[in-house]
Amino acid sequence: MEYIFLVFLSLILLLSTTVYGVSDSEYAKLLVLEKIEEQLEKVLVLEDEIEDDFLGIPSWTSQHGGKVLVNVDSFGATGDGIKDDTQAFVSAWNKACDTSTSVLLVPEGRTYLVNATKFKGPCAGNIIVQIDGTVVAPDEPEDWDPKNPRIWLVFSKLKGASFQGKGVIDGSGAKWWDSSCKRNKSNPCRGAPSAFTIDSSSAISVKGLTIQNSQQMHFIITNSDSVRLANVKISAPETSPNTDGIHITKSTNVVLQNCRIGTGDDCVSIVNGSSGIKMKNIYCGPGHGISIGSLGQNNATSIVTQVVLDTAFLKGSTNGLRIKTWQGGSGYVRGVRFQNVKMENVANPIIIDQFYCDSPKSCQNQTSAVKISQIMYRNITGTTKSAKAMKFACSDTVPCSNIVLSNIDLEKTDGTAETYCNSATGFGYGYVNPNADCLQSSDKETHIDMKKDAEQKKNTGSPVHTEL
Ligand SMILES: *[C@@H]1O[C@H](CO)[C@@H](O)[C@H](O)[C@H]1NC(C)=O
Ligand SMILES: *[C@@H]1O[C@H](CO)[C@@H](O)[C@H](O)[C@H]1NC(C)=O
Ligand SMILES: *[C@@H]1O[C@H](CO)[C@@H](O)[C@H](O)[C@H]1NC(C)=O
Ligand SMILES: *[C@@H]1O[C@H](CO)[C@@H](O)[C@H](O)[C@H]1NC(C)=O
Ligand SMILES: *[C@@H]1O[C@H](CO)[C@@H](O)[C@H](O)[C@H]1NC(C)=O
Ligand SMILES: *[C@@H]1O[C@H](CO)[C@@H](O)[C@H](O)[C@H]1NC(C)=O
Repeated sequence: MEYIFLVFLSLILLLSTTVYGVSDSEYAKLLVLEKIEEQLEKVLVLEDEIEDDFLGIPSWTSQHGGKVLVNVDSFGATGDGIKDDTQAFVSAWNKACDTSTSVLLVPEGRTYLVNATKFKGPCAGNIIVQIDGTVVAPDEPEDWDPKNPRIWLVFSKLKGASFQGKGVIDGSGAKWWDSSCKRNKSNPCRGAPSAFTIDSSSAISVKGLTIQNSQQMHFIITNSDSVRLANVKISAPETSPNTDGIHITKSTNVVLQNCRIGTGDDCVSIVNGSSGIKMKNIYCGPGHGISIGSLGQNNATSIVTQVVLDTAFLKGSTNGLRIKTWQGGSGYVRGVRFQNVKMENVANPIIIDQFYCDSPKSCQNQTSAVKISQIMYRNITGTTKSAKAMKFACSDTVPCSNIVLSNIDLEKTDGTAETYCNSATGFGYGYVNPNADCLQSSDKETHIDMKKDAEQKKNTGSPVHTEL
């Protein structure tokens, strides 16, 4: 807060006519801060989901006044966990979706076996899906529906829908993990289903569900706008391969709040075409951290902008705050802020890796890369497992620029923590441990660019629309 105030004051100072006395480089730094704030304006106004009624999850009974209750049991579901209840779920969905105010109920105390299924909208009205019981997937990869090799439960084309309840969605993934080529190199490398997908939808809220033991990714948000998850719990063993927690792709205005995630891959992964992503109060561990990427695989053009993580605790994860891109990609990651994060025994607490290569074959360095700039880390503390507490491994030809570190304290319990930079520029602000001196040295060009920008701003005296 104080610091924001300081920046604000300095800006006022600078914008008045008394620009003299402030060095070009200080001015350039302020401009960088200002640019990041500008980028993040849209994210910061995304409203926090949590309101009183979301803290305790209401059961459908307290709110179904006037709503038509559609219970899967009324459509022949047995709920014994053995008999196939897919058809009952499909029939119940069709009925609920065609009714303008309905609650689709999966009652508690029972377990429903459901195949790969696409639940499609649009629906007649805002549908509530109340899951209080357990939904499980068939556990045998050999018997999986060959027409839907990569999905389990998909909800698509919905406009206004709520998923809620104290229920569990369980992918029964153990046999899928065993058949992964990451577990056993003699297995063929093939994809597995994702447990729960929100596709091509808008105005979606998800509250309180537990999603566990997915075959691969747990929760995918794709091609959607305005999606809010609160109090969602995701878990799978640390050793389960590619079981990302929440994967966001081609989606905008997504809020994740009060989520607790522990899996065998990224707790959160944000990839191409995503913008306006706000994460608040996230617990991550075990897992591979909170990631932007991977991006740029197979020379892809990838763009991710306007991402904010505020308040997180990462424990025992193999990465903390990570941006990962493949050599040969293009596009950019711009306008990201990670703040108020505590780490405990995290292997790479802060990492930008532009040499990401999650492939059995090694990857060649190339001249093109996804450009990374305007990335801010603020109030990040805790312990690192590896010596390189901060690692900015950027492409030689497409350097990372405007990396800002402020109030960082990362300690190694049994040794000294350090910062690694390759082709990365930016600056530290306030207390930064380990120090980030290597950010200043490498790339002169960005410095000159920043100065040029500063000059232009001074000369044109362009107005500043920063909401600090
Ligand atoms: C579930 O999937 C299995 C395997 O593809 C299939 O034999 C069975 O008929 C499916 N059940 C329904 C209700 O579609
Ligand atoms: C890997 O898979 C092969 C072939 O299915 C099997 O013979 C072998 O025992 C597996 N190894 C491990 C460590 O599970
Ligand atoms: C990345 O997203 C953009 C915009 O959504 C899309 O045009 C482009 O095809 C995507 N790239 C890849 C590799 O999917
Ligand atoms: C990516 O581009 C490089 C350089 O043009 C080329 O050598 C490589 O084969 C391309 N890779 C793929 C997967 O298309
Ligand atoms: C720094 O982050 C921690 C959470 O890790 C939070 O408790 C604390 O209030 C933050 N400090 C400031 C000055 O924002
Ligand atoms: C790619 O470039 C990086 C940075 O210059 C270097 O450390 C790494 O060894 C190179 N990798 C390959 C495969 O050439």
